[in-house]
Amino acid sequence: MATSAQARRAEVLRALIEEHNYRYYVLDDPTIPDAGYDALFRELQALEAAHPELVVPESPTQRVGGAPVPAFGTVRHEQPMLSLDNAFTEEEVRAFDRRVRERLGTEEEVAYSAEPKLDGLAVSLVYEAGRLVRAATRGDGFVGEDVTHNVRTIRALPVRLRGDRLPDRLEVRGEVYMPRAGFALLNERLAAEGGKPFVNPRNAAAGSLRQLDPRITATRPLAFFAYGIGSHAGGALPDTHSETLVRLRDWGLPVSPDVARVVGVEACLDYQRRLGERRRALPYEVDGVVYKVDSCAQQEALGYVSRAPRFAVAHKFPAEEQTTVVEAVEFQVGRTGALTPVARLRPVFVGGVTVSNATLHNMDELGRKDVRPGDTVVIRRAGDVIPEVVRVLPEQRPAGARSVRLPDRCPVCGSEVVRPEGEAIARCAGGLACAAQRREALRHFASRRALDIQGLGTQLVEQLVTLDLVTDPADLFALDAATLAGLERLGERSAAKLVAAIAASRETTLDRFLYALGIPEVGDSTARVLARHFGSLDALVNADEAALTSVPDVGPVMAGRITAFFRQPRNLAVIARLRSAGVHWPETGPAPPAEAPAGPVAGRSFVLTGTLPNLAREAARERIEAAGGRVAGSVSKRTDYVVAGADPGSKLARALELGIAVLDEDGLLRLLAGDGPAS
Ligand code: IVH
Repeated sequence: MATSAQARRAEVLRALIEEHNYRYYVLDDPTIPDAGYDALFRELQALEAAHPELVVPESPTQRVGGAPVPAFGTVRHEQPMLSLDNAFTEEEVRAFDRRVRERLGTEEEVAYSAEPKLDGLAVSLVYEAGRLVRAATRGDGFVGEDVTHNVRTIRALPVRLRGDRLPDRLEVRGEVYMPRAGFALLNERLAAEGGKPFVNPRNAAAGSLRQLDPRITATRPLAFFAYGIGSHAGGALPDTHSETLVRLRDWGLPVSPDVARVVGVEACLDYQRRLGERRRALPYEVDGVVYKVDSCAQQEALGYVSRAPRFAVAHKFPAEEQTTVVEAVEFQVGRTGALTPVARLRPVFVGGVTVSNATLHNMDELGRKDVRPGDTVVIRRAGDVIPEVVRVLPEQRPAGARSVRLPDRCPVCGSEVVRPEGEAIARCAGGLACAAQRREALRHFASRRALDIQGLGTQLVEQLVTLDLVTDPADLFALDAATLAGLERLGERSAAKLVAAIAASRETTLDRFLYALGIPEVGDSTARVLARHFGSLDALVNADEAALTSVPDVGPVMAGRITAFFRQPRNLAVIARLRSAGVHWPETGPAPPAEAPAGPVAGRSFVLTGTLPNLAREAARERIEAAGGRVAGSVSKRTDYVVAGADPGSKLARALELGIAVLDEDGLLRLLAGDGPAS
């Protein structure tokens, strides 16, 4: 038997852990480091293990999930769980507001609660005397599934409410969702275990909540936001929806930090536009916003029509996924000769634009997705991200659809296509004999982070290459206005401007020049590191692999690529011609032996991937460098932190593979502020 002191200690530990959960999940303002939290948690676990009679269902240790259930029970909702009418255009939203004002008989602007429309699944949570007694899915709106055992494992969600003025019985409505970061990690993990990844965070949330075994749900990164109250008994509630949300937060329920009270329909639309701009950078997926008349009295006066309230509407963002048909699969040739399979699509409106092409990345990816001409596919385009084929709908595949084979010959120049054993990427062996490679090399040379030649766009490069006016970047400097003015869509004035821009680009910096050369594996971050380290082009050209790998963040693979590049006589010839055409930069000589950097992240190496919510890439780099850290272009064993934003690339996957710490923007800022390593 536990002593009364032990029982009291268990109670204290539970209260402490709950308090820290609340600070972490609801207030987003933790007051102890993760290690401190873990210590409390382990102490409670040990105490309960020694004295099982101390275990109570709402103990935070019970979040790991109990025994599986044979099947879901059903729950009849006290109040039906309704759906919302949708509006797709601003006009439809204005019409909604007009109807609201007509029904209320008012000319005045109406106050609304504007909220993100979370893309998860709706749940109803019943609290009795402040304790979570039942959780149910929406189901058909009247009867849902009992998912109490699973909901208890969601750490963001209190199993016991806090504060005062608690109703005897309270039914909270909200959305269970999976944050993007957790979704990415989960899919990585599933893939590593040989499991099937989820297609999007909403499916992942639904699949995780509807598990018969709560121990599985407990391992899934689910989160929750409350957005309303279904019913309640005992105790008074606020008169407005926005105050209700504040009350829910006081009771310990997480509420989206992005809700706002706005007055009038134009303010609603403004809110929608602003959230739309941040949509990609939000840590969770939203498919629109919801406007709800804020006054509870007005809500009641407006009432319901069939299965939706008249006082609320969902203003949807353009869908990010659509289905369409693959008309062909073709191969594009890139700067380094890489052949990229591209799906030519029946045009489809997705993510706010009409899409008619989607990359299939490489042969492995094409094989994995098994995309064939004639297939119906799901296309996803999120924000400014390149559209991609998410998956094929196999049941809609026409009979006789043939799988795509890698061509033997380059579709542009007819040279041989080679794909080294075990590599995902197939390449055209033509080098600069291939017009596609020449074109891409030039585009890269002129691009913003390279020599930044204003006015030398894709169309123009295409013409220069097709007409054989330019073979490699050095030829650019021999172009004159008369030749250029003869090109399509280029008048004399623009020709003169372009000549001036090309001339101006001669004055550059070593890092831009290195990046412009297009050395495989060397992105702009690496170019900067190399320029700083070697200080002159000759020093770099003459560096051997040992000298290169002594540079922070240069690994053996990259070192090999760099030395191979500078061994090629053709590359050296182009460099010599560029220099004699007058391309120059200040040479600083080798960097002085690095002073020991100072600052909270002195000597630490960071890699950035994805879009951060607030910090632009350059700003993040500056802050890291100011705090003594450095930013590398690729993830290696020597990377200390990967900072991942929305839509992270393969760098995140690589970080997870290598077990490198991953930070979000908040974590980065905390680290830079010297708050110790975030977990
Ligand atoms: S209010 C009576 N608020 O959207 C209206 N719903 O089509 C009840 N949803 O099933 C819903 N975020 O799953 C409301 N801030 C929000 C929401 C939200 C997402 C979902 C919810 C519901 C569906 C309505």
